[in-house]
Amino acid sequence: MSTLAISVDELFIDKAQRLLDVFVSDPTDVLSLGLVAEPGKYEKRFLFGDGMTSAWAFAWGAGASTPIHDHHCPCVVGVVDGTVLEEWFEPEDEGSEFVRLAKAHDRPRGAITALRPRRPNIHRIRNIGSDMAMTVHIYGFNHKAVATSVDREYLARELS
Ligand SMILES: [Fe+2]
Repeated sequence: MSTLAISVDELFIDKAQRLLDVFVSDPTDVLSLGLVAEPGKYEKRFLFGDGMTSAWAFAWGAGASTPIHDHHCPCVVGVVDGTVLEEWFEPEDEGSEFVRLAKAHDRPRGAITALRPRRPNIHRIRNIGSDMAMTVHIYGFNHKAVATSVDREYLARELS
């Protein structure tokens, strides 16, 4: 990837973080969407977007989890309610579908985290609490042209 592409990604992430600062500081509008998720599931709702940006609200039921995945685009996440667990993984070998847990972070309300479309960017988000959690995700891609922000899914060799 060229340094020009990297600079564009950093610019996007900086702007997305500033916007998420607004959402996590005052989550009233996001919470008023009334988005709910059953235990073990997550639900998402499109918020806004254009040819370069796609923003979604996610509700996480207790025990809900994404697959282990990475992204082909910048991904910035802000927690507006509850706490989610974000786990970062490393591939066993270059190009391997098997990964090992590298780090795990609780992301409580107010937390903002960002993934760049370069390694290391393999993660999973889970709600390991008993209450619902809610997040806002801003991706740097055109969701009308590309079906998903996910580049690839992976398998955990050792589950935490
Ligand atoms: Fe993700």
